[in-house]
Amino acid sequence: MNILILGSGGREHALAWAVKQNPKTDRLIVAPGNAGIAMLAECADLDILDGAAVVAFCEENAIDFVIIGPEAPLAAGVADATRAAGLLTFGPSAEAARLEASKGFTKEICDACGAPTAGYARFTEAAPAKDYIRAQGAPIVVKADGLAAGKGVIVAMTEAEALAAIDDMFGGEFGAAGAEVVIEEFMTGEEASFFILTDGVNALPVGTAQDHKRVGDGDTGPNTGGMGAYSPAPVLTDAIAARAMEEIVLPTIREMARRGTPYQGVLYAGLMIKDGQGRLVEYNARFGDPETQVLMMRLGAQALDLLLACAEGRLDQAKVNWADDHALTVVMAAKGYPAAYEKGSVIHGLKRIPEDSRHMTFHAGTAEKDGHIVANGGRVLNITARGATLTEARNRAYAMIDHLNWPEGFCRSDIGWRAL
Ligand code: AMP
Ligand code: GLY
Repeated sequence: MNILILGSGGREHALAWAVKQNPKTDRLIVAPGNAGIAMLAECADLDILDGAAVVAFCEENAIDFVIIGPEAPLAAGVADATRAAGLLTFGPSAEAARLEASKGFTKEICDACGAPTAGYARFTEAAPAKDYIRAQGAPIVVKADGLAAGKGVIVAMTEAEALAAIDDMFGGEFGAAGAEVVIEEFMTGEEASFFILTDGVNALPVGTAQDHKRVGDGDTGPNTGGMGAYSPAPVLTDAIAARAMEEIVLPTIREMARRGTPYQGVLYAGLMIKDGQGRLVEYNARFGDPETQVLMMRLGAQALDLLLACAEGRLDQAKVNWADDHALTVVMAAKGYPAAYEKGSVIHGLKRIPEDSRHMTFHAGTAEKDGHIVANGGRVLNITARGATLTEARNRAYAMIDHLNWPEGFCRSDIGWRAL
């Protein structure tokens, strides 16, 4: 079959890598893609936020299956447009993707289905929000309701920080995303990510992972999109995962269906785990980045069969063939990230890194220039390895990095520390 993947990051490179290995795949196109993706698929220049343009492209290229990677096209209704055109699609409708696009909506769903999550209140004006913060005290968490590229969450350790966050949000710092604010109880525990495919009725867990949000070793420095990840997450034991399915995931899926807006795609549940129970921190309507890189490394070619079963509404017949393995990815970023960084530096040594079922370099932000691979973003490469143990996977990933010669890049040296 002919498959189109939308997106341009390490997540989409990993999805393309897995899909490409499946014999069902004839032609694979990724839009817009990147220099790494171009080594295994065709890349197409396409406005992936424009549903009509995506539909027209699919018709011109006889696409049989569309996989939507990032949240922005989901929130923009691209899955609605492709489904309306009769195209088999992986990814939720805009209405269902509100589980990621509106934090207030997610809280409303949690209330309706009794899913454990942080206590909260919603505000559209600064004065009552500030009164609430003063009454609750710190630590407290202030969130812009809408999509803010991962920046709309302030975990305030002091009341002053929380009050300043309110001024920023209602002052327009996050644009329309900050027109409504959710203020939450600060939860303690250990965070982990749980990935579940659902066709709207049936649900199938496809893995757990933990990422490293801070830029520096020892989880220090500013927040990033993620500096590395590993799977499985030992803190998310089978028992805790089963309980999260019963208490959080299945009730959410039933509530979305009951409202006439069934959720179809991957549900990424961010959980805070404490005393044998997970509480919901947030949902994302897409796979995690860089978590997908470790999930795909473990799932391989069967990932396509699972995504197809999800899109075709037959997840009740699907099952995951798990190897008893571990995967770990280290993000190589451009120096300066997550603040200002330079683009265009040449990355040497990529060809020396092994590529096989245990080693893969996924490109997150690269471009090709004059025959060289150059950095073209903040997060640039995801050096990913698989092993019988997490230690083996970690050692393999860092050995891969030793082949690189890229003085303008950096990575954390302690990915996986929590689990090792
Ligand atoms: P979110 O975008 O909702 O995942 O928030 C980003 C990060 O902020 C999460 O991964 C957590 O580390 C932290 N966070 C969000 N909500 C809470 C909360 N209620 N309590 C503690 N930490 C939180
Ligand atoms: N790595 C976090 C995310 O994808 O949201």
